[in-house]
Order: sequence, then structure tokens, then C-alpha cells
Amino acid sequence: MQIAMIGVGYVGLVSGACFAEAGQTVICMDVDPQKIEGLRQGRIPIYEPGLEEFVRRNAAAGRLSFTTDLNEAVDRSQVIFICVGTPSRDDGSADLHYVDEVARGIGRTMDEYKVVVNKSTVPVGTARRVRRLIMKELARRGLQIEFDVVSNPEFLREGSALQDFMHPDRTVVGVESPRARDLMGELYRFWTEKNYPLYFMDVASAEMTKYAANAFLATKISFMNEIANLCALTGANVEQVRVGIGSDSRIGERFLFPGLGYGGSCFPKDVKALIYIGKTMGYTFSILEATNIVNQAQRHRFILAISAYFDHNLDGKTLALWGLAFKPNTDDIREAPALTVMERLLDLGADLRVYDPVAMAEVQKHYKNYPYPERVFFAPTPEAALEGADALVINTEWDIFRRFDVGRMKTLLKTPVVFDGRNIYQPATMTEAGIRYFYIGKPVAE
Ligand SMILES: NC(=O)c1ccc[n+]([C@@H]2O[C@H](COP(=O)([O-])OP(=O)(O)OC[C@H]3O[C@@H](n4cnc5c(N)ncnc54)[C@H](O)[C@@H]3O)[C@@H](O)[C@H]2O)c1
Repeated sequence: MQIAMIGVGYVGLVSGACFAEAGQTVICMDVDPQKIEGLRQGRIPIYEPGLEEFVRRNAAAGRLSFTTDLNEAVDRSQVIFICVGTPSRDDGSADLHYVDEVARGIGRTMDEYKVVVNKSTVPVGTARRVRRLIMKELARRGLQIEFDVVSNPEFLREGSALQDFMHPDRTVVGVESPRARDLMGELYRFWTEKNYPLYFMDVASAEMTKYAANAFLATKISFMNEIANLCALTGANVEQVRVGIGSDSRIGERFLFPGLGYGGSCFPKDVKALIYIGKTMGYTFSILEATNIVNQAQRHRFILAISAYFDHNLDGKTLALWGLAFKPNTDDIREAPALTVMERLLDLGADLRVYDPVAMAEVQKHYKNYPYPERVFFAPTPEAALEGADALVINTEWDIFRRFDVGRMKTLLKTPVVFDGRNIYQPATMTEAGIRYFYIGKPVAE
């Protein structure tokens, strides 16, 4: 089957490469000419384990190509996936202007039956909105062409996106016509033949499923962070509590790790969008409002603990910062808690020695116009970040940090103090190494 991915970001590029791997012929279209030119030359614009190999292999086999020309992508494809961003507006609503632009473009171009698929995360009703926009453009051209709009939300996680796409827990397709259902069924046959579940449902339910999934996971994270904060006050051990509740199959052990809270391009915006959707219907989504508040507060509690340790005076202090990406195995820094930590510590007067295995370039771009460039040293190694620092602050749980020799950590730091926002070490190991170790949920009395 010939398919098009419109928007070649994390979702569009990974999905396109994976569909090609599954034997489809895929054309990836983006408005960013540099990105497309780079991809044609084999340069992958994002860090995602395994992606380069998938793109190289399928491009060489002629199953994956790249263009900036929407007409070409639409002409050549039976199924067109919209994979553009849907960022938050100030009021929390999803900004659909990229989606609208693509829908209009498809309407201006198509001249035979197509299935248009919303893969971007979009509010309930967006499939209808896309249909209306396409119809309007067709009417302008005096054409009556049949088409379907389908919802096929994406559940991949950055950092393990290929694994998630090739081995999904489930695929959700919201569809209203038998013709589109048959085409989508055919497209996902590679997976259903291997018994990966494919759930067909109505379009509104598919649209809601994506928000409900992300909002639930975000809530689980905030809930566990509140338990950690209460452990700190009561003297309970949050790691033991985590194991104790996670072993209950009704709860499940994933997404129960206390830390700095969630970030990234999805959870924060999807939580806000669902709250906003509620508001437009006169409904207050109280749990999600709390989820959002707890998530923001969590990083500020951490910053406050660091500041308090230094008597709220960080002038002349040097802090090592490990981890900038919003989670390990990605270079994505969108809404990363690490950025808030970095900005506040700079505002409080600290000098920073920062290190992240892959996200440094993104942060350097982000901080181009930041007021204190001279106070941030981008260290080439985790060791170099530690050298002469008054404390280490950990924001992202990369494996390279988990494996780090804590004896060496103590030697390199000027004073052996660690603030761990991801609880990656055993408190006993740190104490034995002679390091003062602060972590999320550490009992206040200790
Ligand atoms: N990133 C994730 O882990 C993830 C997971 C599941 C769902 N989603 C959802 O998928 C959608 C895309 O997310 P992303 O992280 O891939 O976004 P992204 O910002 O990485 O990529 C979006 C791409 O769309 C391109 N674009 C913008 N306007 C365009 C247009 N008119 N025509 C063609 N291309 C255009 C941009 O240049 C960019 O390359 C969002 O709705 C997001 O919520 C993301």
C-alpha cells in the first residue's frame, strides 16, 4: 500500500520508518526543507535508538522517501497520516492550526478517494473538523470526491519508539465507514497476523482514548509523587511502598517511580487539553487539575530542598547537573523538569556544570538568549561536570548515571553532596561512600 506521513517529527518519522519496515511504500512530507534534505542524505534529525538503521535500510530498499511537496505525497498515497504537532495554547487547549493547514492542503490537492488519518493527538471532534475543512476546499474546486477521516492515535514512547511501534500493546482505530475500516485493517495486517490487538471503535472514542491513556499515566506519576512526599514526612520508605503496591496486578509496577514529575511533549499538554475539553463542556476534571498542580510543585520542592541546603544563598556555589532530556534515551527537552531546575538554580545565583549524553545541543539552542551564558559550562563528560562542584543534581535517570562509580563521584566533587531527582542510587550505598544523599521521599528526620 502507498501511504504518506505528513509531519516528520518523532511520530511521523518513526511511524513512517516502521510502516516501511512492515513492507508498505511510505512517503514522508514535512514543511522543513532542511530536515527533508538531511533525511534524503541519511541524517536523522532526532535521537531515537535504532531509527537510523530503519531509515537507512528502508530508504535503500525504495520503500521510504522524503519530500517537501504535499501534492506529491497526496497524489502518491491511498492513506494519508497527519502527524503534525498539536501544542498547548495559553488556555491549555490544543492548538490545531498545523492540523488545519494540512487538512486544507489535502482538500486542495486530492482528486480521488483517500483515507485521511489523524495520528496527531487531537480533541474529540477533530476528525469532523478535518472533514469539514477538506470538504470546503473540494467545494471551492467544484469537486465531489469521496473520502474518509479516521482516528489512529499513537502510543509510542520516545526512547523506545521503534520497539513500541513494532510491538504495540494495542492499536486503536476509530473509523466510521467499512471501506476505511478494510483499508486500515489491511495496513495493520502485519501486526494482527502476529496477534497484536487492533481495536476498531467509533472516531470520538478513539480520540478520547489517547487523552485518557496519557492523563491516566500522568495521574499515576503525580499520585506516587504525593505518596513519596508523605513518606518523607512520616518516615515510611517510598521504595518499599512502591514495591509493595506495584506488585498488586490491579495497580501494576510501571509509572510508580517517584521523581521530579513528568515532562515531554505529550503528558503536560494532553493533561491540560483534557482539562480544557472538560471546561468547554461545563465539566471540572478535578483529578487532572490536581495532577497538573502536583507535577509543577514537585520540581519546585526539589529546587527548594537544594536552595535550603545552601541557606538559600547559591552565589558563588557551583552545581553539577546530570540529565537535561525529559527522560532517558531521547534528546527531547520539551517541558523537561531539568530546564526548570536549571533556570531556577541560575536565578538563585549558582554556576552550573551540566552534562547530558544526547540533549546538550538542544539545550544550547534553547539557551541561546538566556541571561547568564557565562555561568553554564557544558561539560564533555559526566566526570567533567562533577569536577570541583559543591553538589551534584540529577534530573534524568540515564543508565550511564546509574552505573557511575560513586567512589569516583565523591573524589571529583568538591563536597560530596547529591540531590537525586530520580532516586537512582541506594541510600545505603551513598552513605557508605561518604556522600550526603538527598532523594525524593527521603525522610525529613534522616
Ligand atoms: N512525541 C511523542 O512521543 C508522541 C507520542 C504520541 C503522540 N504524539 C502526538 O503526535 C503529534 C506529533 O508529535 P511529534 O512529537 O512527532 O511532533 P514534532 O514537533 O516532533 O513534529 C511535528 C512535525 O510536523 C511538521 N509540520 C508542521 N506543520 C506542517 C505542515 N503544514 N505540513 C507538514 N509538516 C508540518 C514540523 O516541521 C515537524 O517536523 C502530536 O500531536 C503529539 O501529541 C507524540
